[in-house]
Amino acid sequence: MPILRTERLEKTFDTSGADTSVVAVRDVNLDVEAGEFLAITGASGSGKSTLLHMLGGITRPSGGRVLLEGVDLASLGDDDLAAIRRRRIGFVFQRYNLLPELTLLENVALPLVLDGRNAAAADAAARESLAAVGMDHRASHRPDELSGGEQQRGAIARALVTSPAIVLADEPTGALDSANSARVVELLQRLVAERRQTVIMVTHDATVAAAAGRVVKMRDGRVAYDSASVEVPVS
Ligand SMILES: Nc1ncnc2c1ncn2[C@@H]1O[C@H](COP(=O)(O)OP(=O)(O)OP(=O)(O)O)[C@@H](O)[C@H]1O
Ligand SMILES: [Mg+2]
Repeated sequence: MPILRTERLEKTFDTSGADTSVVAVRDVNLDVEAGEFLAITGASGSGKSTLLHMLGGITRPSGGRVLLEGVDLASLGDDDLAAIRRRRIGFVFQRYNLLPELTLLENVALPLVLDGRNAAAADAAARESLAAVGMDHRASHRPDELSGGEQQRGAIARALVTSPAIVLADEPTGALDSANSARVVELLQRLVAERRQTVIMVTHDATVAAAAGRVVKMRDGRVAYDSASVEVPVS
């Protein structure tokens, strides 16, 4: 069973009337296996973020379905969906989204605290997660005392702290210079290789996409290319 499957996934945004509705994602059928590192590329407006948000249960589809570990996300009520988002999915955003008034350690521990874990257990898990991204030496710093690359590594530690089934990242290197971008990509590669973590990453950057084991290209809301389904010609 794939860890994530989409069947005829579709999203239409109805803005102010039928004539202005936008089909952002249409007929997307994807199987992602545990331990895959998948990059989603495509032009601006091609539906990458909308797709990622549906995969993560942030946006509800207009049609089709998303199965995460065999569970149809549409079958879940808001509370159960929120619990899956907290426990089984790790999100990484372009702008890190660390809370400025918390230390890095507190930021990383936050998903566990919000999920009702006791402070000592959350703390220990957060330290371990920070160590995994090479940021344990900055645990007591606040985000504004860290570089962009360090903040993003902290955000990845936060995404991993719950041991999610899958990590979803939307332009995780979009705000970084090339050296920091390479570091973040290397980190994601290592997580996939060493922890058999599953990562789906949206990126504009061809160099970043090339680091993934599989590349899916979106065009006008559809999958225009999937390196996993390109047939190798037999001669
Ligand atoms: N909330 C919304 N309401 C209406 N239209 C939307 C909404 N969100 C996205 N869209 C439209 O859906 C299409 C896909 O948007 P999406 O954000 O998924 O693109 P993207 O591939 O992530 O682009 P970018 O590379 O610029 O981030 C675009 O035409 C966009 O204008
Ligand atoms: Mg986007």
